[in-house]
Amino acid sequence: MVSVQGYLSCLLWFAGVISAASLQHITEPFGDNPTNVGFYLYVPDKLSPRPPVLIHTHGCHGTAEGAYKGYRFPKLADQYGFIVIYPDSPFLEKKCWDVSSRETLTHNGGGDSLGIASMVRWTLDKYAGDRGRVFATGVSSGAMITNVLMGSYPDLFAGGSAFAGVPFGCYAAPGNNSGVYWYWDYACAAGNVTHTPRQWKAMVDAAYPGYTGWRPKVQVFHGTVDEVLNYNNFGEEIKQWTAVFGLDYRRPASITENTPKKGWTKSSYGGGWFEAFSAFNVTHNIQMQEDLVLEFFDLKCNGQDCFSWGKGGPRKPCSKRRSPVQEHRR
Ligand SMILES: *[C@@H]1O[C@H](CO)[C@@H](O)[C@H](O)[C@H]1NC(C)=O
Ligand SMILES: *[C@@H]1O[C@H](CO)[C@@H](O)[C@H](O)[C@H]1NC(C)=O
Ligand SMILES: *[C@@H]1O[C@H](CO)[C@@H](O)[C@H](O)[C@H]1NC(C)=O
Repeated sequence: MVSVQGYLSCLLWFAGVISAASLQHITEPFGDNPTNVGFYLYVPDKLSPRPPVLIHTHGCHGTAEGAYKGYRFPKLADQYGFIVIYPDSPFLEKKCWDVSSRETLTHNGGGDSLGIASMVRWTLDKYAGDRGRVFATGVSSGAMITNVLMGSYPDLFAGGSAFAGVPFGCYAAPGNNSGVYWYWDYACAAGNVTHTPRQWKAMVDAAYPGYTGWRPKVQVFHGTVDEVLNYNNFGEEIKQWTAVFGLDYRRPASITENTPKKGWTKSSYGGGWFEAFSAFNVTHNIQMQEDLVLEFFDLKCNGQDCFSWGKGGPRKPCSKRRSPVQEHRR
């Protein structure tokens, strides 16, 4: 015989299970997805009004489900009411992202980045999401595609956070890279690809010719003893994004030591539009900082004026803010 208490706790447990949101696999058509990226979605039971959307891309040899289970974003989504999209790499052999093809490095050009952009558009429509608050983050290959999304889809994203990645375009396959989807660039991985800030910026500009609008804010992290994607890539990412924002990579506005962890140094540029965290003596196995990422994106905000400094400006008439790029170009 089951005791009354036992029976009750079973019932409560069951109620808890059926009410909790879970990872959904979206199998209906959701827009252009030429490389057949898998679409997984986490929608918490309690969404904030006009919910923000976070893309969390897994690393090589990873999966959408692994990313969902291995990090605290679902719990944080429950707490703060945002939606998490978990794309799943179609490159079954290595499960890395396409960060090499002309298609992926071009706005609406195709490749994995277009599949992910289609997921964003579908999710915003279906859940009446906040178009001004779409973000992306990931580690390793997930960081590389985050940088690609920031470069190819600046109009869709409000911000990106890349852990142990490489600059936009660093993995571009040589020659005519059209259709070369999951190319591994050994020279870039080894930290042998260096460019001037102007050259790195030119690659981002070429992704979306003629685009003069909003540029998403960017945050990058890298371990100084990264054995997979050499630490030089950190310096190249800094050159690239500061150039995109019209800032000087040699002149951070502030440097803060031992944040968020001992031995990690944060350099902040241009009023926080770009941040770079150098993690001393950390390997490629860098620890994702979920809370810091949410704070950078202002995703802990549930009120009316969330991300009020950001894309689209404050939710009040007649007061528009501009990103540094726009300031620069004025
Ligand atoms: C690159 O290759 C594609 C497909 O093979 C072709 O359509 C395109 O014209 C080529 N582009 C250049 C610049 O050679
Ligand atoms: C990177 O450069 C180093 C130093 O010049 C060289 O020894 C190494 O072979 C290069 N690696 C790749 C993959 O380009
Ligand atoms: C770096 O990390 C390794 C492994 O954790 C440790 O053995 C070593 O003492 C560290 N080096 C420094 C300079 O902190």
